[in-house]
Amino acid sequence: MFLLLLVVGTAVSRCLHDETQKSVTLLRPHLSQPAPSFRFSALTLSGSHEPQPLRIRTYSIRDPVSDGAWEPEGAGMRGGPRALALAAARQAAQQLQGMLTGYPKMAPAHLQILTLGRCSLLNPGYKGESCLGAKIPDAHLRGYTLWPEHGPPQLVQPDGPGIQDTDFLLYVWVAHTSKCRGEPSVIAYAACCQLDSEDRPLAGTIIYCAQHLSSPSLSHSDIVMVTLHELLHALGFSGQLFKKWRDCPSGPSVRENCSTRQQVTRRDEWGQLLLTTPAVSHSLARHLGVPGASPGVPLEEEGTLSSHWEARLLQGSIMTATFDGARRTRLDPITLAAFEDSGWYRVNHSAAEELPWGQGSGLEFGLVTTCGAGSSDFFCTGSGLGCHYLHLDKGSCSSDPMLEGCRMYKPLANGSECWKKENGFPPGAENPHGEIYHSQSRCFLANLTSHLLREDETRHPSEIPHPVEAELTGRCYLHQCTERGAYEVRAEGTAWVPCLPGKAIQIPGYSGLLLCPRGRLCQTFKGTNAVTSPPVSLPPQALLFQLSLQLAGPPGPSVGKEELDGLTEAVLQALVSRGGTGR
Ligand SMILES: *[C@@H]1O[C@H](CO)[C@@H](O)[C@H](O)[C@H]1NC(C)=O
Ligand SMILES: *[C@@H]1O[C@H](CO)[C@@H](O)[C@H](O)[C@H]1NC(C)=O
Ligand SMILES: *[C@@H]1O[C@H](CO)[C@@H](O)[C@H](O)[C@H]1NC(C)=O
Ligand SMILES: *[C@@H]1O[C@H](CO)[C@@H](O)[C@H](O)[C@H]1NC(C)=O
Repeated sequence: MFLLLLVVGTAVSRCLHDETQKSVTLLRPHLSQPAPSFRFSALTLSGSHEPQPLRIRTYSIRDPVSDGAWEPEGAGMRGGPRALALAAARQAAQQLQGMLTGYPKMAPAHLQILTLGRCSLLNPGYKGESCLGAKIPDAHLRGYTLWPEHGPPQLVQPDGPGIQDTDFLLYVWVAHTSKCRGEPSVIAYAACCQLDSEDRPLAGTIIYCAQHLSSPSLSHSDIVMVTLHELLHALGFSGQLFKKWRDCPSGPSVRENCSTRQQVTRRDEWGQLLLTTPAVSHSLARHLGVPGASPGVPLEEEGTLSSHWEARLLQGSIMTATFDGARRTRLDPITLAAFEDSGWYRVNHSAAEELPWGQGSGLEFGLVTTCGAGSSDFFCTGSGLGCHYLHLDKGSCSSDPMLEGCRMYKPLANGSECWKKENGFPPGAENPHGEIYHSQSRCFLANLTSHLLREDETRHPSEIPHPVEAELTGRCYLHQCTERGAYEVRAEGTAWVPCLPGKAIQIPGYSGLLLCPRGRLCQTFKGTNAVTSPPVSLPPQALLFQLSLQLAGPPGPSVGKEELDGLTEAVLQALVSRGGTGR
């Protein structure tokens, strides 16, 4: 599961989860030999069947050769790429804790990652167990004993103490692996390595490519979002794990009658791959504004497996195959519904972020056959300029391989953000269209032109040269919410003018029109005082991210470098494949 992020700020990154996950052998305990130390906490532990927050523990792998040092929370925060990665991983884990819950009965009190059989011979090349190349500390492993042909068994390694109070263990490793070198745009990739007896993922590794963590084009919130995406793959949103999802007809808190789901994906009559489980099908129907259930949620075609939502339908969801920045990404209700369908988690649906793309657009939305026919203003035709659908950016009408011929307004390569003051005009510069770049500015389709451009005030109106009729294009103007779904706009030097969603308005002092988008701005507005409200068109997480960025402190110099320089290709190669050097 790769996340490829092109280093340019507005560029889109791609995730190649399936390639990584396929290279990892998924281990699960043998039911015939229950591990004595692989205990499950008692049902009565908390005195109830209430699901408990999913306890995701991060564990920093310092060095793949020697054991990673156990880093208690708060340690190892000296700055540099490793601290940034660990802070992002912890924040992502914490965010998921409020969204997914585990079941007390399922949670092993004493997580030991690997169970190994009896050996008669120790392979001299054996270097220990690893998960996606990250060496697992012996303390997390069950021990092993040699059983020679003659003589008594010899205990080589006793059982490690394991890990307490953990439902999922995420090994965090900052490295410069051959994958990072081979694909310079990869930020991070992850895989799940261990399942429990009900096939629920227990442990995985996320590898951050070191060079990106100190790149100024990636914000902390971008890295957290990348981490969430990878973590969700490792927790079960994966083409390799879909077939292991469980159906629990007796209700989510009664585990006895769960069985592996009969069908999770299927191909519809047009060849589109769908995830067909009940919660996602209902969630998509709700999103598209149709009653009942949709036939399923389309998945992106990616070779033999598919671990992402179809981008035409679910643009902006955290689980599409491309990532174009935290600001444009949502942890949406359909993705959370998938975790409910996995049968391994209970989901806190109130924690989902609304997905603006395609909302209320009906079942025909996002089809290759309809997107070019002007059926939806989420799509565009031609190659003109307009606004990205979130209205934070100007955009140009374009396509990409995931859109399969459909076109949408994608942010420009440079200076497209209306919310960035520094994209604005320097003082004194001509601003004929009265644009304002400001944290509260948004992109509007408009062709406003100032009357005052050529100091015509003294002339008779009939003497003013008729302006050349200008096409509507994306421009930045200030907005403020007045109530949910209602807002006012302002251009340079004007008063606030009410913007009626779905209507074109005029602004005194300017010729031309400004189109007020419907259903896109001020949708989450709750407050009454627009002046003191936070930027309401942004997801609440964006503010959370900024806050924690300050708490984490400024990134230091590239501290992780010297430790990484020591890693030779030979060591990496030896550890990449677990199966390569067995016992
Ligand atoms: C569910 O999510 C909401 C919104 O994020 C949060 O306030 C609440 O505490 C969560 N509930 C649980 C049980 O974690
Ligand atoms: C599990 O299934 C059996 C057989 O269908 C049924 O008798 C039992 O009540 C179920 N258990 C629960 C807790 O629903
Ligand atoms: C973006 O535009 C500004 C001003 O137009 C220019 O100075 C800058 O070099 C451009 N950056 C890129 C990456 O093209
Ligand atoms: C602005 O665009 C509208 C709609 O395309 C057009 O009718 C109008 O003439 C344009 N106005 C100016 C001043 O360009």
